[in-house]
Amino acid sequence: MPAESAKPALEQISYGLYIIGSKDGDEVNGMTANWLTQCSFEPRMVALAVEAESHTMTNIRASRVFSVNLVAEADTRLIEQFVEPQARAGNKLGGIDFRTATTGSPILEQALAWLECEVVQTVMTGDHELVVGRVVAGGENREGEPLTLKAMGWSYGE
Ligand SMILES: Cc1cc2nc3c(=O)[nH]c(=O)nc-3n(C[C@H](O)[C@H](O)[C@H](O)COP(=O)(O)O)c2cc1C
Repeated sequence: MPAESAKPALEQISYGLYIIGSKDGDEVNGMTANWLTQCSFEPRMVALAVEAESHTMTNIRASRVFSVNLVAEADTRLIEQFVEPQARAGNKLGGIDFRTATTGSPILEQALAWLECEVVQTVMTGDHELVVGRVVAGGENREGEPLTLKAMGWSYGE
């Protein structure tokens, strides 16, 4: 068990809030996530910690691709729709407008901007798996302020 005294520091780390798109064949999924960071300029890469038991991780293991959807500050309802596990919620993208492009990972029409990534490395990090992805595509649907974990008033772990 980590030191309890570390909790306040962990709670105060700043994060964005994203919908991670994933696929396995024709099946697509979305998951709310905040443990994401850019980790290389050249080539452009991002690192994302994904719960080892999640459906998203199963999809990423199978397809070796994922997308990152940046959500607008006002779109809190959208973020809420991707919190429940796929195993309980079923098809979370059922009523949601999305398209696919380079990797086949879902790009939400309501997102401000998006990235598409190909997995270059995964590392088991306790109860999550750190997924390092090379950014192979990306774009902007519209301008706006992206949602943050703090603005949402939520926390994830500590
Ligand atoms: C605010 C918040 C942040 C989250 N951040 C992450 C994250 O960074 N990585 C992760 O694997 N799960 C994260 N989760 C949990 C997943 O959204 C949750 O386990 C989801 O049900 C997994 O969906 P799936 O089984 O369809 O992949 C977060 C949840 C919330 C509420």
